[in-house]
Amino acid sequence: MNERKILVTSALPYANGSIHLGHLVEYIQTDIWVRFQKMRGHTVYYVCADDTHGTPVMLRAEKEGITPEALIARVQKEHLNDFTGFHIQFDHYHSTHSSETRFFSEDIYHKLKQANLISIRAIKQLYDPVKNMFLPDRFVKGECPKCSAKDQYGDSCEACGAAYAPTELKNPYSAVSGAKPIQKSSEHYFFNLSDSRCADFLRYWTCEADHLQSEAANKMREWLGNTGENKLSDWDISRDAPYFGFEIPNAPGKYFYVWLDAPIGYMGSFKYLCEQKQIDFKQFWQKDATTELYHFIGKDILYFHALFWPAMLENSGYRTPTKIFAHGFLTVNGEKMSKSRGTFITAESYLKQDLNPEWLRYYYAAKLNGTMEDIDLNLGDFIARVNSDLIGKFINIASRCAGFITKRFNGKLVDGTQYQQLQTIVDEHFTAWRPTQIENAFEERDYAAAIRQIMKFVDAANEMIHQLAPWEIAKKPELDKELHRACSLGIQLFYLLSRYMKPVIPGTIEKIEYFLNCESLTWPVLSEQQTVSELLLPPGHMINPYQHLMTRIDAKQIDALIAANKQSLSSSDKPGNTEPFTETSQTFAPIAETISIGDFSKIDLRVARIADAEHVQGAEKLLKLTLDLGHEQRTVFAGIKSAYDPQQLKGRLTVMVANLAPRQMKFGLSEGMVLAAGGNHPGELFILSPDSGAQPGMRIK
Ligand code: MSP
Ligand code: ZN
Repeated sequence: MNERKILVTSALPYANGSIHLGHLVEYIQTDIWVRFQKMRGHTVYYVCADDTHGTPVMLRAEKEGITPEALIARVQKEHLNDFTGFHIQFDHYHSTHSSETRFFSEDIYHKLKQANLISIRAIKQLYDPVKNMFLPDRFVKGECPKCSAKDQYGDSCEACGAAYAPTELKNPYSAVSGAKPIQKSSEHYFFNLSDSRCADFLRYWTCEADHLQSEAANKMREWLGNTGENKLSDWDISRDAPYFGFEIPNAPGKYFYVWLDAPIGYMGSFKYLCEQKQIDFKQFWQKDATTELYHFIGKDILYFHALFWPAMLENSGYRTPTKIFAHGFLTVNGEKMSKSRGTFITAESYLKQDLNPEWLRYYYAAKLNGTMEDIDLNLGDFIARVNSDLIGKFINIASRCAGFITKRFNGKLVDGTQYQQLQTIVDEHFTAWRPTQIENAFEERDYAAAIRQIMKFVDAANEMIHQLAPWEIAKKPELDKELHRACSLGIQLFYLLSRYMKPVIPGTIEKIEYFLNCESLTWPVLSEQQTVSELLLPPGHMINPYQHLMTRIDAKQIDALIAANKQSLSSSDKPGNTEPFTETSQTFAPIAETISIGDFSKIDLRVARIADAEHVQGAEKLLKLTLDLGHEQRTVFAGIKSAYDPQQLKGRLTVMVANLAPRQMKFGLSEGMVLAAGGNHPGELFILSPDSGAQPGMRIK
């Protein structure tokens, strides 16, 4: 076999959101492929990282009163926990906020500049005059220019689907401060994609050379237009301060746009691994490298990976990807994942409810076919398939046969002539069990086809065991030999099948390896001349007593999972990637009766630091806060439990009413009140934060 050298990546998840079951489609898809290739003995490196830069991370950190560095460190830990929980086995998981990624970002930028592919020009953009920052499209809201729907984002309307520029919105406001944005001009750096060197190269790379799936290549044709048509515009790669990212060399106050350094994060992560493991980085990234490079991504980020990224690499002297593998989007019960329906399920909640991650891995595998079609997690079908196929059919083979081997034959499988008879049965009845077809299906990422094929084998095995009926022969002591052979056959078939299942359910297979007392399973290799029986465990092989391998899914567990994700609907702790606000627009109570400035000045509002926050035993709604006012501390019971985790509150600044008469409550004395905005739904609560620089004790007037 020719050993291949392969570098594989999954897209880098944003550092401002939790991993959910949609993300997992990708990481599970990639992990299965990587495990399969490793089982075959190829050299494979699987790297990933958190995608840390950009405005959303900056604003979220500010909101939490911590540095972006602290935020991304915490999120990276959470992400890694989730991935590990689902048996996603990276060779390295990095961060784009790293010296390696900075190095390659600057390097690529310099080379593009040397090639005369960077230009600078001023553009006008919306600017928040209160917050003093330019507003990314998603942070401008207003009325749709087409249908006048309110509270639409600056790039497209969710009501009528229209796409537009943020400057076209009617009555625009900043989603950061609420202020009316102004237009302001500033110099931006562009990567000249419209240069014929890029356009011609991309036309060839995406459509002629075989780097994309056919559906993806068609999309590219649409985006690129015909030769001479030049549909590509130059790509704006800079953002103005304040921005969390890498400052552009010799351009103070200008930062690389997050999508410039994000794919470079693949190189950064791999570079780190190379240093650790003495791998030759160049062998994987220099122009004309003969190693293979694959990017697994979702269809939504095809544009970045199939246009910008290869154009950047090609023109800065690096190799381009061997292939880009795009997959579709996850729907749950046929619909988009939804927080209000409880189908926006986080990886963490799935694991916390003690659901087996391999159920999901199996189900996704049974659905993924290597195309860009969306895949549906139908929860009823999920329960049915896992229970009937994975447990009822596959695991069942072992559980039916193992007990007899242990109790009646001291854990020993047949040997001698019995073994030869068993080999004959295998070669007569299971000639089809060669690895080729399943192997090709895995290679092509058509895991659905692989699982169908494996399940056909599983059915054949069960059929055979059913005919031999060991539980019947076991009743007749004179048929001891037949019993031994039948059960040994069952175990041997289970052994063969386990190898094929290993990329999909590695955790269970590890238990099976222990049970079968065998070495770590590799992908079977059979030459034309060899027969399937040559893959069996040796004569007289000893196995360990059978132990429980996998439990069935109880529908109640799924109900609980949905309920848990419904409850956690609190927009403050789970903002979407770029969503500064909640999903729905709302109507609010009318403005109250007018008061005089004298009335208002009676209220003494102060900046307070939340020194401590804790749950109150027996209280449904309250959290106990210790507020630091600079010179004194106060205890306040606040009804914000439905929206905030105490851990998240500690250390941040907020606003309190400092001269409210103390009130004796069931749980203790409350010495003031914190201010919070409330929506129409329970859990929709937003405590206030002063701008950075404010100090505990300052009066608010
Ligand atoms: N940070 C960018 C990727 C940068 S890669 C250099 C990003 N992050 S993401 O967190 O939004 O998504 C990470 C990956 O998960 C993407 O490939 C995306 O397509 C995929 N998915 C996110 N939601 C998904 C579904 N609901 N279904 C399937 N895949 C999804 O994009
Ligand atoms: Zn509209």
